Amino acid sequence: MDFSNRLKNLPPQFFATLVQKVTFAVAQGRDVINLGQGNPDQPTPEHIVKALQDAAANPGSHRYSPFRGTNDLKQAAADFYKREYNVDIDPNTEVAIMFGTKIGLVELPLAIMNEQELMLLPDPGYPDYLSGAGLANVRFDTMPLLEENDYLPDYSKLTEEQKQAAKLMYLNYPNNPTGAIATKEFFEETVKLAKESDIAIVHDFAYGAVGFDRKKPLSFMQVDGAKEVGVEMYTLSKTYNMAGWRVGFAVGNAKMIEAINIIQDHLFVSLFPAVQSAAAAALNKSQQCVDELVSLYEDRRNALVEACSKIGWDVKAPKGSFFAWLPVAKGYSSEEFADLLLAKADVAVAAGNGFGTFGEGYVRVGLLVDEERLVEAVERIAKLELF
Ligand SMILES: Cc1ncc(COP(=O)(O)O)c(C=O)c1O
Repeated sequence: MDFSNRLKNLPPQFFATLVQKVTFAVAQGRDVINLGQGNPDQPTPEHIVKALQDAAANPGSHRYSPFRGTNDLKQAAADFYKREYNVDIDPNTEVAIMFGTKIGLVELPLAIMNEQELMLLPDPGYPDYLSGAGLANVRFDTMPLLEENDYLPDYSKLTEEQKQAAKLMYLNYPNNPTGAIATKEFFEETVKLAKESDIAIVHDFAYGAVGFDRKKPLSFMQVDGAKEVGVEMYTLSKTYNMAGWRVGFAVGNAKMIEAINIIQDHLFVSLFPAVQSAAAAALNKSQQCVDELVSLYEDRRNALVEACSKIGWDVKAPKGSFFAWLPVAKGYSSEEFADLLLAKADVAVAAGNGFGTFGEGYVRVGLLVDEERLVEAVERIAKLELF
């Protein structure tokens, strides 16, 4: 049996290759410090697990969910946006419940684009954006995220043709992989461009909770006019260490939300009601667990940056997300450098070129092991005398 052209056109799964390399090294009995992936290492807070247990014990949770998710979870998402960002969201028309935001990011081009229409994507960027473009068979152009622009795209570099043709644009701050955050001015510029050129905006707010140095990351929805032009994807995976639970939502433009809901009506019956119940509890209850998580990541970030500067590795501290974006040693490509660290220091990092052409020259490190292991990783790298 031959696979469909659609399947054949999909890009190779970048993280799958990374996992293979690390698994191979671990199978050889090596003590690999894995900083390559983005899987939160801390447990889901107890009160959320308890909410799941209680809901799972209720027979009312065992039936099909309403197609578009429970009212409780949609209301919790709206209340969360009001409380955290002072943004008004209508739970009935401006919230879509999803099996994590990866699904939303991948299905949205299928829902609102025709084949060969143009999408604008950040480079470097989260590799799964390409999966959405591939499945929908749309074209995409990339917008370079450069260090000198604080990893924000420079819209003045878009051509008139690109602006005319683009139907959809993806943005992501705090940014994976660079750790950059967005400014209000940048989001305002985005709304202006979107209105002038009729481009729908998706802001991927996966790391919305994780801002350092007491700076709370901005929601795109906080900027005037954002709801007229776009949606924001919010996941519980990172904020509450719920990556395995598969729960997230989109808020914003009612038409785009309707498009997500229609495609999901055909693909799924919504999430296990008990998961939705626990997700509502996560959003509604005390957010102290989130504050604690952010300060844990900040301590790890500080330990990493300090250890790197001690060995002469000139790295910039990320402002948000749980990633650090580190320049490679002179004379190496990203991939060569990542392979060297795995082979000679038993440290796994993600090669920057896996996130796009403009990721070349960097590696991404996850702050997802404890401080001692992060420092040990840098000490192992120090022995290679590359800096
Ligand atoms: C930038 C970004 N967006 C979206 C996601 C998807 O998260 P989830 O599908 O767990 O909601 C991730 C996960 O790593 C991510 O890094």
